[in-house]
Amino acid sequence: MNKKLVTDKFVELFGETGDFYFSPGRVNLIGEHTDYNGGFVLPGAIDKGMLACIKINGTDKVRAFAVDLNEYAEFGMQEDDAPEQSWARYIFGVIREIMKRGGQVKGFDTAFSGDVPLGAGLSSSAALESTYAFALNDIFKLGIDKFDLAKIGQATEHNYIGVKCGIMDQFASVFGKEGHLIRLDCRSLEYEYVPFNPKGYKVVLVDSVVKHELASSAYNKRRESCEAVVKAIQKRHPEVELLRDADMAMLAEVKGEVTAEDYMRAEYVIEEIQRLLDACEALKKGDYKIVGEKMYGTHEGMSKLYEVSCEELDFLNDIAKKCGVIGSRVMGGGFGGCTINLVPEDKYDTFVDTAVKEFTHKFGKEPKVYPVKIGDGSRKL
Ligand code: GLA
Repeated sequence: MNKKLVTDKFVELFGETGDFYFSPGRVNLIGEHTDYNGGFVLPGAIDKGMLACIKINGTDKVRAFAVDLNEYAEFGMQEDDAPEQSWARYIFGVIREIMKRGGQVKGFDTAFSGDVPLGAGLSSSAALESTYAFALNDIFKLGIDKFDLAKIGQATEHNYIGVKCGIMDQFASVFGKEGHLIRLDCRSLEYEYVPFNPKGYKVVLVDSVVKHELASSAYNKRRESCEAVVKAIQKRHPEVELLRDADMAMLAEVKGEVTAEDYMRAEYVIEEIQRLLDACEALKKGDYKIVGEKMYGTHEGMSKLYEVSCEELDFLNDIAKKCGVIGSRVMGGGFGGCTINLVPEDKYDTFVDTAVKEFTHKFGKEPKVYPVKIGDGSRKL
């Protein structure tokens, strides 16, 4: 991590150095677009993320520097002080959400840098939010628990960025544990660390380098579709609060009452919640073949029913199949970003070579390849 770079810039701008905090991005093995439907997810933090140096400055202003973008921002902390730069709005949002919950935040200086690729579906924004939620909680001794730190990041997305996301990314970033995935019930926030050490397999991400922009994408529309179907189902089954509570029979009952598109979206979600539960059972038995089949099932659903894949990601999925990868799918919100692949060790080199060669040939741009290491969550360094 580029700690020296951040230290040098911080010292140059603000004098003496401050404290360092880090929060990671995440992968998700299976369970996509289930979080805001109250379902389950199976993410893990990765060894890449955001690193910030921070120090109280004795004023009521924030002075912030984004090292990777070489941009500076200075802003107050009241609701109408929102900065223009989008990266600074994340920091501002976190401050505001802490203040709304009664936390006393004062002015500080900060510089940050990251090694989690932006717009690749690895939750660089959650990493940024968690870094500042964790850091401010620590330096101002606010006593906020980890659940609320994750919720502060999520609320920042909702209220200051405009993405009506679920809790998965921020939760994984804050709660991550080396060598483990987190089986999270997104309704109750009960969670369990699941050891993840798939012997004989490697987990690798292939980045389509199609940038996904959740705010301007159809992410929020997908969520609205799910809510519309819940409303329809509730007329017969008032106990259904979220798609988590619905089954295919209930969905079938409202077929004539919802749009064909909303129907498809809900069908995907209901199936995906079950796929995740099946994959977790298989994981317990160390049956990676079944886990892999479920991952392919998720890709199919995200591509055909939820329609959040794209030509590049479908192409990568096909190559994975052809090369004997046992599980592959688009990961995260979709609309671009990475596929996550569970690859038998002896097929790894061929898969990576073929994917890079064929993708570059077809699309005229090279995909990026990131081997996955599951790391720890938010921390002070
Ligand atoms: C994005 C959101 C998450 C989740 C995923 C899809 O990463 O931030 O809350 O909905 O998409 O599973």
